[in-house]
Amino acid sequence: MSQVLFFRAALLASVTAACSADDSGPTSTPTVTEALTDAQVDYALGHVLTEHGFTGRMGTMLPLRLGRPVDPRLADIGRLLFFDPLLGLNNDNSCSGCHAPQHGFGDSQSIAIGIENNGIVGPDRAGPRNQRRTPQLLNAAYFPRLMWNSRFAARKGDPFDRNAGYVFPDPEGTSLSYMPHLLNAQAFVPPTERVEMAGLEFPGDNNAIRAEVVRRVNAVADYKARFAKVYPAVSKSAIT
Ligand code: HEC
Repeated sequence: MSQVLFFRAALLASVTAACSADDSGPTSTPTVTEALTDAQVDYALGHVLTEHGFTGRMGTMLPLRLGRPVDPRLADIGRLLFFDPLLGLNNDNSCSGCHAPQHGFGDSQSIAIGIENNGIVGPDRAGPRNQRRTPQLLNAAYFPRLMWNSRFAARKGDPFDRNAGYVFPDPEGTSLSYMPHLLNAQAFVPPTERVEMAGLEFPGDNNAIRAEVVRRVNAVADYKARFAKVYPAVSKSAIT
């Protein structure tokens, strides 16, 4: 019997043992899994993961899927913006206020706390609650559908493929399908969410909010310089 079959058989046996343990009372415990050493479990698990195409090296997959190397200058701009409350018109929240790196770019809070927070990220964060828990963003670049109810989706079932477009609920609809990746399109939305980042005061629709965010980014010389290094046209005009 191969190690993997052994592993599966042992799992099955332990489940069966657990069931009979229920029947015979709480004091009897299954013993079959004790036969497995850590090395055997590692081996069997490694085999199953390889079988399903898991490499454990998501970073090296990225340039292959993008069809180009990752540009560290763009990655830096993205990182800086992710942590910058400049994107939140209420001036008190950034993407990282909810998607915290120390929690896998997710949250320690059961339900997200957006605007009017106390400036703390983590278990001591306080403020009005939003409606849902903040999901982790690790590996989200590979998800063909985003959000808890999958409402942002790449029609081709591949977030790197915009050919059939992306579907969002209204008012965005399919209007963001020109973006190169589903995550690029997704990033248009959080700054427009009033209780997450935008606040209740700024007048105007989602496009007005975005225009104001872009105006604020343009007003920071460091961002302009960083964008201009990647997109030379920005040195003569504006970031759009
Ligand atoms: C107020 C907290 C909060 C802020 C600020 C916030 N998010 Fe989120 N984010 C959430 C919540 C909650 C969800 C899930 C919402 C849902 O499913 O309806 C989410 C979902 C996402 C997802 C989808 C993840 C998945 O696996 O489906 C991405 C990507 C994302 N956010 C990126 C961002 C970016 C980029 C920013 C900043 C521009 C940002 N978020 C700002 C709370 C926040």
